[in-house]
Amino acid sequence: MITEPTAISSTSRIATGLQSSFWRRVLTADEDVVAERPIRRTYSDRPSMNAGCVRVVLTLRRLRGSAMLRRVVAGNEHIALSEVIAGLSYALDLTEGEPPGHAVRTTRIGMRLAEALELDPHTRTNLFYALLLKDAGCSANSARMAALFGADDHVAKHTSKRVDWSRTLPAFAWSLRTVAAVGSARARVRQLRAIKAEGKVTRALMQARCDRGAEIAYLLGLEADTAEAIRALDEHWDGCGQPRGLRGSEIPLLGRVLCLAQTVEIFHADGGVAAAWAVARRRSGRWFDPALVDVLGTIRDDRDFWASLADDDGLGWEPEDRLMTADDERLDQIAQAFAGVVDAKSPWTYRHSDRACVIVLSLASALGYDAETLRNLRRAALLHDVGKLSISNRILDKPGRLTPAELAKVREHPVVTERILERVPGFGSLAALAAAHHERLDGRGYPHHLGAAELTAPMRALAIADVYEALTSNRPYRAAMTSLQALDVIREQVPRRLDADAFAALEHMLAGGDDPGSALRAETVLEPPRSS
Ligand SMILES: [Fe+2]
Ligand SMILES: [Fe+2]
Repeated sequence: MITEPTAISSTSRIATGLQSSFWRRVLTADEDVVAERPIRRTYSDRPSMNAGCVRVVLTLRRLRGSAMLRRVVAGNEHIALSEVIAGLSYALDLTEGEPPGHAVRTTRIGMRLAEALELDPHTRTNLFYALLLKDAGCSANSARMAALFGADDHVAKHTSKRVDWSRTLPAFAWSLRTVAAVGSARARVRQLRAIKAEGKVTRALMQARCDRGAEIAYLLGLEADTAEAIRALDEHWDGCGQPRGLRGSEIPLLGRVLCLAQTVEIFHADGGVAAAWAVARRRSGRWFDPALVDVLGTIRDDRDFWASLADDDGLGWEPEDRLMTADDERLDQIAQAFAGVVDAKSPWTYRHSDRACVIVLSLASALGYDAETLRNLRRAALLHDVGKLSISNRILDKPGRLTPAELAKVREHPVVTERILERVPGFGSLAALAAAHHERLDGRGYPHHLGAAELTAPMRALAIADVYEALTSNRPYRAAMTSLQALDVIREQVPRRLDADAFAALEHMLAGGDDPGSALRAETVLEPPRSS
């Protein structure tokens, strides 16, 4: 059980006594709870929002009415799996510090190569999903990258893809530039020494990313060829890639296509066909299979194709006779898999989405919600923080108080969640629910400052589950609270800010409740958080 019956009176007393000082100080640094000063600017005119985030939001808004959404017909059995994954791949682009649509454009390039290679439909299907999900493991090394380089992980990831990192000199120059982005000369030297001492840093970072990506493909029920292509994403033809140093034909063909397609997309986006072709030629035989570079040469003059990369109107390219659909079970798997991507972003939130989901489902069961609401709540809870992938680990993992600019950045994440989910078939109807988890009944939450009249019962339950999970987990700036301490903190906000019925259900559940299933579910997920 997660209650502390022997310490109820003393703990409760201590927690209550501290609320006016210590807890309040803690709460001002805790984005899961703080919302005392509403910001009533619209998203697009908020000066603190960086250009990258503006671009993401504007792009996602533009895509809301695209054919990708219009093609979805009634009934989940008709939702194209490709369009669900493509929609969520925008979250992966954010994590990689790439412009929105990077994964989708990489998929088109890879599939155009597959067409030129005359790969059979089965192989092309495996390649198609490997291309879309190539960055599924990207969040697994974000925290370590940010800590090791002392830099914004989005920037480090973005710039690393534009250097020839398998060569010593460019890799060193990139490390120097990356750590040089912050701090004093002494701090930079210390950081470079740490990187050198780490020795196999690149290998470890790539290993985590590639293995996690492959795992997610397996979790989604995709074939081994898809998962193994993702695992081989950063292997190079000359054996100098990562993490396994595979060479030549040891690298699965689909992995070789992924490696070439992703680099071609990046250089094409930055400098057009000429730049893409130049980097492919320059790295042919080192990074890339020379035969694949020759195939790229055959489509180099296909102007219509290269122009089509700017087209946001759907993805295409999935073999037509093998179109995969996403039924309810598959949508649940996808929500679970992307919750894993979100939770892997920071060691401090490594089970946040998962735990919040279990908690809210227990509350919802106790409150008598119907099956459809439960299903929606489950998916919304799993995906509610997908927008956090847009936040640097320099902020998420910061041990000290956040600056106003950093806090503003954190407060943007529900909007990013909303914009991403709005455009994903099967999840679009959950966008408002998922994005409302930091809203409060008094209208002083964020991002839209909704009030009691606008916050539905499921939204209120999710808000309670989210804040309870956050308070009972370690954070870089405070230790996890006990269950009783967390309840005391939440109780102070009921009913002014948080919902009384949902809170009563939470208290009931934590006391054991009258539903053994509820208590059991809570017990399996709410063991003491790991100390990080
Ligand atoms: Fe959140
Ligand atoms: Fe959350």
